[in-house]
Amino acid sequence: MIKIIDVLKTKPEGQVITVQGWIKTFRGNRFIALNDGSTINNLQCVIDYVNLNEITLKKITTGTSIKLQGELIKSLGKEQSVELKVTKLKIFGKADPEKYPIQPKKHSLEFLREKAHLRIRTSTFSAVARIRSSLSFAIHDFFKNKNFYCIHTPIITASDAEGAGEMFRVTTLENDFLNKKKEVDYSNDFFGKKTHLTVSGQLEAETYAMGLGNVYTFGPTFRAENSNTSRHLAEFWMIEPEMAFYDLNDNMKLAEEFIKNILSYILINCEDDLKFLDKRLNDEEKNKPKIERSEMSLIEKINFVVSNKFKKINYTEAIKILKNSKPNKKKKFKYLISDWGTDLQSEHERYLVEKHFKCPVIIYDYPADIKAFYMKLNDDNKTVRAMDILFPGIGEIVGGSQREENFEKLKERMIKMEIDINEFYWYLELRKFGTAPHSGFGLGFERLILFATGMTNIRDVIPYPRTPQNASF
Ligand code: 4AD
Ligand code: MG
Repeated sequence: MIKIIDVLKTKPEGQVITVQGWIKTFRGNRFIALNDGSTINNLQCVIDYVNLNEITLKKITTGTSIKLQGELIKSLGKEQSVELKVTKLKIFGKADPEKYPIQPKKHSLEFLREKAHLRIRTSTFSAVARIRSSLSFAIHDFFKNKNFYCIHTPIITASDAEGAGEMFRVTTLENDFLNKKKEVDYSNDFFGKKTHLTVSGQLEAETYAMGLGNVYTFGPTFRAENSNTSRHLAEFWMIEPEMAFYDLNDNMKLAEEFIKNILSYILINCEDDLKFLDKRLNDEEKNKPKIERSEMSLIEKINFVVSNKFKKINYTEAIKILKNSKPNKKKKFKYLISDWGTDLQSEHERYLVEKHFKCPVIIYDYPADIKAFYMKLNDDNKTVRAMDILFPGIGEIVGGSQREENFEKLKERMIKMEIDINEFYWYLELRKFGTAPHSGFGLGFERLILFATGMTNIRDVIPYPRTPQNASF
């Protein structure tokens, strides 16, 4: 059996082939545009309707699954180079045009989210899915070539890796939770203690980096933050490399190289899908007022990121720029920047990236008080060796840091931040036995896909999004 992606590369010499797929469109009682998911492009299949019985002909509608056998010939049409002259036809499953929701017309993304089990049959969602798959492959390939080991960190955990407390509880003690008067006794729970879905595999990855050297984990992570935005999911996938003997500079360098490398991979390997999404974005932008349209097309934006150096500034410099910026002075920001030490909101991040620097920006050395407990304290005792990478149109895409490798300093910081040092004894022990400088970062996979596909809502780049009040499918 041959896939359409390969058929379209074949020299047509009248050879007999069989293809199977779903009908995209059927024109003039003759031309079936067939798609099997292997490429954004359809195969034109020409049927001999005169000799086809009426009942079969009626079933040839958008969405029907079909097997077609015929001769591959040179096409006379301008749109395609080859076509299939059909001699045999078998219908597997029809799709009643009165009821099948995915008709050959423009559907809104909101409508398609309600039909998430069928939206993969549209060109947009299949292109996004293929790019997602290619990026996943490119990520593993990048790390393999650099001798990193892929490790699988636990999904169920008793520790809060980010110390932020926005976690989903895992329990089998249903009744105890319903009985609100009673204090929950976790010793009776499945694991004998309070457990959650992981918010990050970082801490466990650190333990493996301290023996394997360079590792990465790539898995689902869960956040119970009630953020109903186009950038947040309750279940998202994260790539977290962790490297022994890396300082913050090595870490930033690797992150930049990593992002450029995987984006280059799709420029080369996903050309047709990117061209389709490029055109799609362009069409979308036509509906916007001129000043809101982006200066670059999707492919230009990806090329720009791949071929330009990311801008690096520290938090203090970033605050200075923001404080003196027009929107701050004219009170256009929702959160005005006044003092050193405040956390950057996405409006600030986007100002820096989209208006001020007009390129990806790495901000490093953040105030200790707004960052996680594990980040290495600088000599100023005020800032930590943190770094965030901000992307145009997205905001934060990467968060990372050099880790505190000094036992006393880490313990002190954990106590100050009210982190349970008994629960984290194993994490502290890494600093007792053969401790070493080390660093890592986390890349939000869906945020990267947003950038790579030009989609604007994170719900459209994961098959089945989990967001507040929504866990359908
Ligand atoms: O900045 P975060 O919270 O960092 C960590 O979890 C570290 N443990 C990573 C590390 O150093 N190993 O998350 C990292 C990235 C963010 O920059 C963002 O791209 C993405 O994960 N992210 C989300 N993506 C979708 N939905 C959410 N709710 C996200 N929260 C974070
Ligand atoms: Mg972050």
